[in-house]
Amino acid sequence: MESIVLCITGASGTVYGIRLLEELSKRFNLYLVVSDSAFKVMEAELGMERSEFLKKLPENCRFYSQSEIDAPVSSGSVLSLTEGVIVAPCSTGTLGAVANGISNNLIHRVCDVALKERKKLYLLVREMPLSLIHVKNMERVISAGGVVSIASPSFYTKPETVDDMVNFVVGKVLDHFGVKHNLYKRWRDEGF
Ligand SMILES: Cc1cc2nc3c(=O)[nH]c(=O)nc-3n(C[C@H](O)[C@H](O)[C@H](O)COP(=O)(O)O)c2cc1C
Repeated sequence: MESIVLCITGASGTVYGIRLLEELSKRFNLYLVVSDSAFKVMEAELGMERSEFLKKLPENCRFYSQSEIDAPVSSGSVLSLTEGVIVAPCSTGTLGAVANGISNNLIHRVCDVALKERKKLYLLVREMPLSLIHVKNMERVISAGGVVSIASPSFYTKPETVDDMVNFVVGKVLDHFGVKHNLYKRWRDEGF
């Protein structure tokens, strides 16, 4: 089974990270890194504590905290064998660190390594409005080969529930990694 790195940071939208974890673990062995702030937001948004989250992780998932800078994926020798790195949701703080090569924690480091190894890096940023600093940081990441996306559910898919909206955003991330799914209905899909 191929492997992939999923990082969850402290932007609003922990649900995106958790939905991705569920979907990615069906298809990949997962290296998972969750920041300290993400655990706080998870508790605020979903009422889920760190211990409960960790208890529910699938067997093919290896969890690391942000301080475990000696994790295997901290090295290009391991990360280069993965399909890449997804940060979802991505805070503007983590965006800024990645854009400026500041590898203060494991999440920043794996993003830095993904860029230097020319692996896929997908940052699903959640913030509004955006400052010029955010936009410049996005430009820097995109110029270095990363993909930056603002979590933006569509309406042409006629979502009826919050879950539908989450699934659209998660589905778009999976599309980028070539993962087949039925999380949202494609525009005028003729089943080819
Ligand atoms: C409830 C809550 C919601 C937050 N939402 C956002 C957000 O949508 N976007 C963002 O960039 N930061 C948000 N933050 C702030 C980040 O958690 C904070 O900047 C943190 O230092 C990010 O650290 P990390 O990137 O290491 O997870 C939020 C914080 C809390 C407590």
